[in-house]
Amino acid sequence: MEKPLALGIIGHPIGHTLSPIMHTVAAAYHGIELSYSAYDVKPENLSRAIDGIYTLSIDGINVTVPHKMAVMEFLDHVDDEAKIIGAVNTITREKGKLVGHNTDAYGFITSLKENAGVDPKGKWTVVYGAGGAARAIVIGLAMAGAERITIVNRTESKAVRLAVDAVQVAPDTTTQVAGADTNKLFESVSTADIIINATSVGMGAGGESLPGVERINENHLVADIVYSSSKTELLKQAEKAGARTLDGLWMLIHQGAAAFRLWTGKSFPVDQVREALVSKF
Ligand code: ATR
Repeated sequence: MEKPLALGIIGHPIGHTLSPIMHTVAAAYHGIELSYSAYDVKPENLSRAIDGIYTLSIDGINVTVPHKMAVMEFLDHVDDEAKIIGAVNTITREKGKLVGHNTDAYGFITSLKENAGVDPKGKWTVVYGAGGAARAIVIGLAMAGAERITIVNRTESKAVRLAVDAVQVAPDTTTQVAGADTNKLFESVSTADIIINATSVGMGAGGESLPGVERINENHLVADIVYSSSKTELLKQAEKAGARTLDGLWMLIHQGAAAFRLWTGKSFPVDQVREALVSKF
């Protein structure tokens, strides 16, 4: 009998992950026997966890916060897209070697195209954040031909580094950094086609908000990478202003779809997966 496909996710903390549900639904859809486990790995144990994946012949692993960047040094190879993004969220086993990939950029761009009906090619965009998720989104937008990307981040040096990296990937894309409460920020938000929150602001009831979002209007598509059972504050505000909105659940599903394709070569039943996730909220 063929051994079931052994997959999983490492992160810390890991309690809230929706990945086991997604991959179990997709495997059942194709009649694939699968075990998908969530492993809580403390940062100091990351190297040993990767050794374990290697020696226990686990077929594939998702990587989440806080390991996406740190894991890269323990892998045999990291593909070019993950290298430029600077983060790995999916590990495959190829001829015994562990290879790192990043499917977050694909996940976001696919959600934009398929679920919001917006092609970022030629568009003006504002991205809040410069962490792992924002890096994937900005590099994804640049590779997809966005004309202008304005990056806004609390720590400006990270925004500057990301702006430089994005132009390396796509020299035709104009990138700029705007600080909070500056005319450049207000002008960028007012004239943008797409506004994206890729920070963790708005996840909780912290009362924090993003600078410049009061300029959102009915011409905007507003996307939030955060997903929850109810709309985030940003998306509620955007809706009130007449903007179209896109929640982070579709990005999560499409990044999972790309990981599943890398592991199995098969498609993801995205609507069934979304239905299963929504019923768990
Ligand atoms: P992820 O991998 O989910 O992107 P991350 O790399 O820790 O996580 O990045 C979190 C992002 O949210 C960063 O852009 C961070 O800003 P800094 O680079 O200045 O840390 C942003 N962020 C988190 N908390 C924030 C807050 N209270 N106000 C503004 N930005 C915040």
